[in-house]
Amino acid sequence: MKKIGVLTSGGDAPGMNAAVVAVALNAAMYGIPLVGIKRGYNGLLRKSESLSDDMEELRLDTVLDIADRPGTYLRTARCAEFMDPQWRKFAADTLRAMDIGGLVVIGGDGSFQGARHLCHLGIPCIGIPGTIDNDLAYTEMTLGYDTAVNVCVDAVRAIRATSRSHDRPHVVEVMGRHCGDIALTTAVSTGAEIVLVPEVRWSVEKVAARLREQIAKGNYRTTIIVAEGCWESMEPFDMYTFLNAHGKRCYEGEPISAYRFASILKRMCGNVEARATVIGYTQRGEQPTARDSAFAFEAGNLAVRLLRDGISNQVVGMREGKVFYMSIDEALKEKRHFRRELYNLVNRM
Ligand code: F6P
Repeated sequence: MKKIGVLTSGGDAPGMNAAVVAVALNAAMYGIPLVGIKRGYNGLLRKSESLSDDMEELRLDTVLDIADRPGTYLRTARCAEFMDPQWRKFAADTLRAMDIGGLVVIGGDGSFQGARHLCHLGIPCIGIPGTIDNDLAYTEMTLGYDTAVNVCVDAVRAIRATSRSHDRPHVVEVMGRHCGDIALTTAVSTGAEIVLVPEVRWSVEKVAARLREQIAKGNYRTTIIVAEGCWESMEPFDMYTFLNAHGKRCYEGEPISAYRFASILKRMCGNVEARATVIGYTQRGEQPTARDSAFAFEAGNLAVRLLRDGISNQVVGMREGKVFYMSIDEALKEKRHFRRELYNLVNRM
């Protein structure tokens, strides 16, 4: 193998830098030069003015210091052009022209689709799951998920303290795109009383009834954890008519949000002072936890070993607590399993 390339793609995730360092360590150990590709697949499409803005020779002494840093040193992006076969061919040609004989792709589902296409164009690729969402079925964890959950747990514990002081319920929105894992694990870890996720259909009226039950039992500081994708699985609710009829100005067609949901619950539950917090990007920008860093280290190590041994078109993951690899095509076919029993337990259903 003449050279190896590495890129981070999609939303940044804590642990991406640690994975790049692990790749660099291994490449250095085998004496294989490493090229860092900037801004995901965009770097391969040579979108910048200068080559140095698209690619960088990654020397071990340059990257060693980034292992525990949040964000991604290589930068990241989502690359719409990569849906186009002509651009993918351009990328494969760029890699060949640069003598890059193998590519490590650190990213989520979309990034793996890109890697799969490059594999079919003859570029050996290995994927490392890097996304806070934990939405890749083949692996027990993705890089950044543990850190994101810990950020949410810290935030919810603080919110529950102020909720208790003021006797008021709180809606907390967490990330996860179409996956409710961050929300569910946060709820389980904090004692939250209600959790709403995209995987399970729910209705505003039933949540309000559950909140009223809590209030009737003397619990005024109920925490309702909502996954950002939970609005997809909400039964139709006419927020415009409801809020306007209850003295809160709302615009027709306005999408529901955690803040609007808190306003609705307040009005459905006897004017209880419900509040809302959206945790947002702090989930992505935190320093990686030990669990994420350790996974990154092992995943980066395995990725380079596989390329060096001539094994490609694989993704690295975690199963029964152990790092493993499997075919990228098979991995992308696996169906996610949502832990419904935990969801029922939190919601006391
Ligand atoms: O995929 C990670 C993620 O943080 C999702 O949880 C979220 O929906 C999305 O990225 C946000 O993306 P962007 O950075 O484009 O706003």
